[in-house]
Amino acid sequence: MTPLHINFSPLHISNSLKNLVNMKLATKFIHAGAEPDPSTGAIMTPVYQTSTYVQEAPGKNKGYEYARSQNPTRKALEDAYAIIENAKFGLAFGSGVAATDSVIKLLNPGDEVIAANDMYGGSYRLFTKVWERYGIKFRYVDTSDVKNIKAAVTANTKLIWVETPTNPLMNISDIAAIAAISKSAKALLCVDNTFASPYLQNPLDLGADIVMHSATKYLGGHSDVIQGALMMNDAELREKLYFIQKSCGAVPGPMDCFLVLRGIKTLHLRMKQHCENGEKIARWLRDHAKVAKVYWPGFEDSPGHAVAKNQMRGFGGMISFVLKDESMEAANKVLSSTKLFSLAESLGGVESLINHPASMTHASIPREERIKNGLGDSLIRLSVGIEDADDLIADLDKAIG
Ligand SMILES: Cc1ncc(COP(=O)(O)O)c(C=O)c1O
Repeated sequence: MTPLHINFSPLHISNSLKNLVNMKLATKFIHAGAEPDPSTGAIMTPVYQTSTYVQEAPGKNKGYEYARSQNPTRKALEDAYAIIENAKFGLAFGSGVAATDSVIKLLNPGDEVIAANDMYGGSYRLFTKVWERYGIKFRYVDTSDVKNIKAAVTANTKLIWVETPTNPLMNISDIAAIAAISKSAKALLCVDNTFASPYLQNPLDLGADIVMHSATKYLGGHSDVIQGALMMNDAELREKLYFIQKSCGAVPGPMDCFLVLRGIKTLHLRMKQHCENGEKIARWLRDHAKVAKVYWPGFEDSPGHAVAKNQMRGFGGMISFVLKDESMEAANKVLSSTKLFSLAESLGGVESLINHPASMTHASIPREERIKNGLGDSLIRLSVGIEDADDLIADLDKAIG
């Protein structure tokens, strides 16, 4: 049998895919990374479940040598990652945390990172419990005020790490203004874009150097995969991160890449519904007699609204709230009595989830630190899914009582 000619090398993005850059979001999301399989014409990228590739002679291969370094299913997804974030390059990792870890591995002992004081607890744990031990210094500031970032810059600042909107308080940081600071400090700016997704926000267009995603969330979208992504424009930076990806080995398997490729195809439809349901529920919660405060950047009077409106295309389906009765008992009652909102960590799937950050997603942040940064014991976080909004409201109404 004649070997089938597969004309893709790990750095090649076909012209038909490059043309997508100028297309609208829905077209990009459906076609990103999807080219008919060169060996069969299969419209869906096959799951190349292989660990290695047969070579014709030493050093003579089709661009694939060993699956930790390259895999065609992963390559299709990495092209898709680039396209959906208006980037030149995308890299896929075994989890969001592995993607974050790879960015920190660009640094050397003595280097400093300015990071948000309100961010995903797992990022905070990685920074404080793992990387501080290797001599990287982290300065945590409220990144929603650029003055705090300016004040924290030193000659050793090499990276600014921003999450916007933040998990779980929905604080908004001005990406373009922070990019101006990072450029003058000659530091990299990496934005964790997990909460917004590329449907709502594209940080590279606003001057960021790297975008990070927990693809576990909106990109996968169906709560069936753990994965992380990095997107960037600079070829040298891509080389450094690719070196870390293959040398440290936190790569996703091909089946997981297939699932995220499939998830991305409906990102625009899902996000539209997440936003619509999110708005209905946020406004309903704010009018509820037993609710003290609702965190959602779509409220015209929320502190980050003007910036969010400027840099996002919508406000998403993530909402946090506190009850007037701030006791843990009252919060626990709500957390354990919803039926449609399942009590679980994670977010961004089609089904609605309810979460207690203090004991779940953000338990790794010391209590004093949490409270100081506004994350109280009784805060409840919702990942609003794409079920019927009226059914979701009825479920919350019963649980809040
Ligand atoms: C904002 C944010 N960043 C990063 C992560 C980490 O991603 P993963 O769980 O895929 O490692 C999460 C997970 O919840 C997250 O919410």
